[in-house]
Amino acid sequence: MSDFISVNLKKLKDNKISNPEIDLRILLNYSRCCENEIILSNFKTEQIDIKKFNLLLNRRILKEPISKIINRKSFWKDDFYVNKYVLDPRPETEGIIEESIKIFKDSKAHFKILDIGTGSGAIAISLAREFENAEIVAIDISEDAIKVANNNIKTKKLDKRINLKKTSFENIEDNFDLIVSNPPYLTLNEINNISDEIRNFEPLIALFGGENGLDFYQEFSKQIYNKLKKGGYLILEIGATQFSDCREIFRDSGLNFLKKEQDLQKKDRIMIFSKL
Ligand SMILES: C[S@@+](CC[C@H](N)C(=O)[O-])C[C@H]1O[C@@H](n2cnc3c(N)ncnc32)[C@H](O)[C@@H]1O
Repeated sequence: MSDFISVNLKKLKDNKISNPEIDLRILLNYSRCCENEIILSNFKTEQIDIKKFNLLLNRRILKEPISKIINRKSFWKDDFYVNKYVLDPRPETEGIIEESIKIFKDSKAHFKILDIGTGSGAIAISLAREFENAEIVAIDISEDAIKVANNNIKTKKLDKRINLKKTSFENIEDNFDLIVSNPPYLTLNEINNISDEIRNFEPLIALFGGENGLDFYQEFSKQIYNKLKKGGYLILEIGATQFSDCREIFRDSGLNFLKKEQDLQKKDRIMIFSKL
């Protein structure tokens, strides 16, 4: 291994960066000025723009996530543009796509989907890929998030399929066959104890769900009934400890609770309801 690699790996390790080898390789490749993929074992400094690399490395040392540095995050079957104005789409949210596919078995069916709090657009775009004839509305209250979602939707040439709107769910008057949402659900206590990676580089509006994390669910549960068609479904992401609270909150919503699903860490993550 070259001295250059050892020195920079040490810098990352000394600053408690959790996957230093992986991150270093990504940063080297993001600064490269040669064609071939760089691997650590036979790296030569002439393969990269050193000035660019040093700037990127310093950002990582200051705990900026790799995704925000390279403006890219994978979710389901795509890579998405991300920046500090949107939450990075997380693997546990892919459960929403999996459950949608289990419920709506016909990938060619014509039906209407609403994605509330679309952020980067990851859920809406992934559903558009899985259901080629679905009519999709994606909303968010953040102007900056809407710009990111718009960028992703246009890059993937889905602007004729996804109707993107800057608005809150209260203003939606239409009704849908499927409503999906990964809303903000962290408690005040969780926000106060969150890692620097999240606190400094992800938007608070995407994370904070009020003092007990339940503000969105409380308001939304009062309004969901009229926004779903008869026979429609709601697939909702929840925080790992919020199942019993959310079960109670949605008891008066008029919807029928079908099941909860856990994520790969065996934490409660998704609730599914139907409108009978
Ligand atoms: C946890 S992020 C989810 C982003 C994306 N859907 C994902 O799963 O990666 C929540 C998003 O909901 C948006 N949001 C918060 N309150 C909202 C509301 N009342 N109506 C619509 N969007 C809202 C935030 O701006 C943020 O982009």
